[in-house]
Amino acid sequence: MKAIRVETHGGPETLRLVDLPIPEPGSGEIRVKQSVAGLNYIDVYVRSGVYKRETPFVLGREGAGTVEALGPGVTEFALGDRVAYMETPHLGCYAEHAIVSVAEAVPVPPGVSDDVACAIMLQGVTAQYLVRSTYPVAPGQTILVHAAAGGVGLLLTQLATLAGAHVIATVGGPAKAELARGAGAQTVIDYSVNDFVDEVKRFTGGAGVPVAYDSVGRDTWERSLAVLAKRGYLVLYGASSGPVPPIDPQRLAAAGSVYVTRPTLGDYKRTRDELLARTDELFALVAAGKLSVRIGAVYELADAAQAHRDLEARKTTGKVLLRIPA
Ligand SMILES: NC(=O)c1ccc[n+]([C@@H]2O[C@H](COP(=O)([O-])OP(=O)(O)OC[C@H]3O[C@@H](n4cnc5c(N)ncnc54)[C@H](OP(=O)(O)O)[C@@H]3O)[C@@H](O)[C@H]2O)c1
Repeated sequence: MKAIRVETHGGPETLRLVDLPIPEPGSGEIRVKQSVAGLNYIDVYVRSGVYKRETPFVLGREGAGTVEALGPGVTEFALGDRVAYMETPHLGCYAEHAIVSVAEAVPVPPGVSDDVACAIMLQGVTAQYLVRSTYPVAPGQTILVHAAAGGVGLLLTQLATLAGAHVIATVGGPAKAELARGAGAQTVIDYSVNDFVDEVKRFTGGAGVPVAYDSVGRDTWERSLAVLAKRGYLVLYGASSGPVPPIDPQRLAAAGSVYVTRPTLGDYKRTRDELLARTDELFALVAAGKLSVRIGAVYELADAAQAHRDLEARKTTGKVLLRIPA
């Protein structure tokens, strides 16, 4: 099968299209004939070596397609079922076929395309758990969402708006500002031009926000801390601009007895029931026409390196997918 392999940790040029044997599912696993693989920012960290792995390895942790083989003893799925997933025991999802554990495979409801199902796996479930569980957003709150035109950002903005919040969104550039507005953000700041601290303070009458969802990290975290209300929450869930240095607890006192959390997806889908509760909500919102899923770009599998370049260069919006040849 065709697959995209990281030969050594490094830039996008280390991604190679290779031919590999089609893998066999083990016990508790299925093999999926993929129609799409999803790109996520974590793939950049894994490719570059921020998260180290033994090389070479096939990149990617998310995809959607059709069940084409069952491991020994698997009864939960049948051949031909449509599934999507956001984690596998082996990584290796930028490929024509992927091995997925039964515990991680999510049935795709009729009427939902593989593209949309894939788009609401890792990024959708992240947006859902951030808004529902990490800091449950309440009606009437004014909250801050960074990188709001990104994959997680557009979904997070919509879910927070649906929860009744007034979303202040930050984005890089006017086209992204339009997308954030379309997702429901009532106040949009182009942080490549304007300082968001002044804008947020002015908008909240100096009070600050009860929660700032920050996936940008190094370039924004200190200013996110500065715009929190007393006892507010800094939800640091990513580091697209680079890692955040160690934080002195005294800074949290000085910022107004604030909280900082660094959530990860795995801790918010600890059981299959929890995973399915989150995906069920997302699928229901899509079916009701309340959640719009933007597929910002689709690249051929062979063009995965270009997809990485564009993601890192902040050229993408919404979900980025790799199309797998039929
Ligand atoms: N903790 C979790 O459970 C979890 C799960 C999923 C994703 N994440 C994190 O959430 C973030 C978003 O992931 P995503 O896949 O949806 O990506 P994404 O938001 O679609 O892409 C990253 C965006 O970050 C912004 N950005 C700001 N500074 C940047 C820089 N120096 N380099 C690159 N981008 C920069 C850009 O938007 P602007 O141009 O608008 O600034 C860019 O489009 C990532 O940090 C990811 O690691 C965390």
